[in-house]
Amino acid sequence: MNSGVRGLQSQYDDIWLVDGVRTPFADYNTVLGLVSPIDLGIKVAREVFRHSGVSPESVGSVVAGNMAQACFDAYVLPRHIGIYSGVPVEVPAHLVQRVCGTGIEAILQAADSIKLGRTELALVVGTESMSRNPVAAYTHRGGFRMGQVEFKDFLWEALLDPCPNVTMGGSAETLAKRYKISREEADQFAGDSFSRAIAAQKSCFLSGEIVPVVNETFEREGYNARGIRLPKKVESFSQDSHVRPSPLEVLAKLPPAFGGVQTGGNSSGIVDGAAATLVASSEFVRKQNKPPLAKVVAGAVVGVPPEIMGIGPVPAIQAVLEVSGLHLDQIDRVEINEAFAAQTLVCERELGLDHAKLNVNGGAIAIGHPLAATGVRLAVTLARELKRSNGRYGVASACIGGGQGIALLVENTQAETVRG
Ligand SMILES: CC(C)(COP(=O)(O)OP(=O)(O)OC[C@H]1O[C@@H](n2cnc3c(N)ncnc32)[C@H](O)[C@@H]1OP(=O)(O)O)[C@@H](O)C(=O)NCCC(=O)NCCS
Repeated sequence: MNSGVRGLQSQYDDIWLVDGVRTPFADYNTVLGLVSPIDLGIKVAREVFRHSGVSPESVGSVVAGNMAQACFDAYVLPRHIGIYSGVPVEVPAHLVQRVCGTGIEAILQAADSIKLGRTELALVVGTESMSRNPVAAYTHRGGFRMGQVEFKDFLWEALLDPCPNVTMGGSAETLAKRYKISREEADQFAGDSFSRAIAAQKSCFLSGEIVPVVNETFEREGYNARGIRLPKKVESFSQDSHVRPSPLEVLAKLPPAFGGVQTGGNSSGIVDGAAATLVASSEFVRKQNKPPLAKVVAGAVVGVPPEIMGIGPVPAIQAVLEVSGLHLDQIDRVEINEAFAAQTLVCERELGLDHAKLNVNGGAIAIGHPLAATGVRLAVTLARELKRSNGRYGVASACIGGGQGIALLVENTQAETVRG
């Protein structure tokens, strides 16, 4: 791209999100805590076909996002999601990892491949079991000396960046200090996230994208059956479990988690879950009976200093606006992943965003952040919210551990008709 942005920018004329669904997100170590991320991925893939009426036979590429190596067959995660959701065996599948930006990156990779004419339709799944992050070691294949055991908790280790030697939460504290974000402001932001999510549950907006998880067997002729087994006596799981009434006086009493303004109440919830979408060309969309969810207009991914990784959405959103020739005033809705309240507040302020347009149905502080599933959820929620509110343009964005930012710009083309 011929611009001042040092990053990757892309523009699309011909790409659509056809439909999207997700599982409800479950607090880690609870109802989905033992379910493999592959089975969560198969579940949402099957459901996105059912919901959209699109046949898995039409898929030309499977793009799956996942971060934790949370099952023994993790190497074949994308492949098994394709096979057990009914995609033809001949269709290839690959894994995407861009940490918290994985879901958006998976959508962009699908869009790129359609733009290149490699396929007309891609199945995109983001799936994550935070619970099943392993406790593992890298150096013990040959045994270990007494007292020199390396086993570590990957969930904890993954949230620490040893390059600047800072945890994700610590990087949010650095931003809070630099931008003078107070504990009260962080808690107020979190309180809004919870109350908006509760309102979105009550209005059934969130249930419109959620497919309940039940005990289920996934079969494919000629192959071993697999499936989802919920804990005893649980028949169905149908609503995000981290969402709860969170009055400011309760949030204010929670102890700091990283020595500053961030707490368990104003940081993203650690949850398990998966989300799926179908990305297609205009030609494919024209052949469908249903209108698509949204047009994919542009994408951008940039690097930022790892010690302030939470600032990533700022240059990423600026880059996606630049490549699409749009101004922030023209954007009706913005979804920025709420890794931490202070971090999202800093992005809101730096961009000069209207709080009334940001994360209007709640964000990851209330709903939770299953790393690779998050970006797909953000894109699907954004597209649905644009339809609900008759908005035209929306941006979904996330900060990325290690120091990156990613953004996706979508358009509700039906709003154009209504307004025009
Ligand atoms: C901040 C963090 C360490 C807290 O982890 P945790 O201690 O397991 O979190 P919990 O959900 O148990 O919350 C801690 C306490 O706050 C309470 N709490 C959390 N949210 C609350 C709310 N909205 N209202 C009332 N209480 C709440 C919990 O009940 C718990 O209380 P308890 O200790 O009495 O049981 C963790 O959420 C975190 O690291 N989040 C960010 C994850 C991340 O970095 N993702 C990647 C981003 S780049």
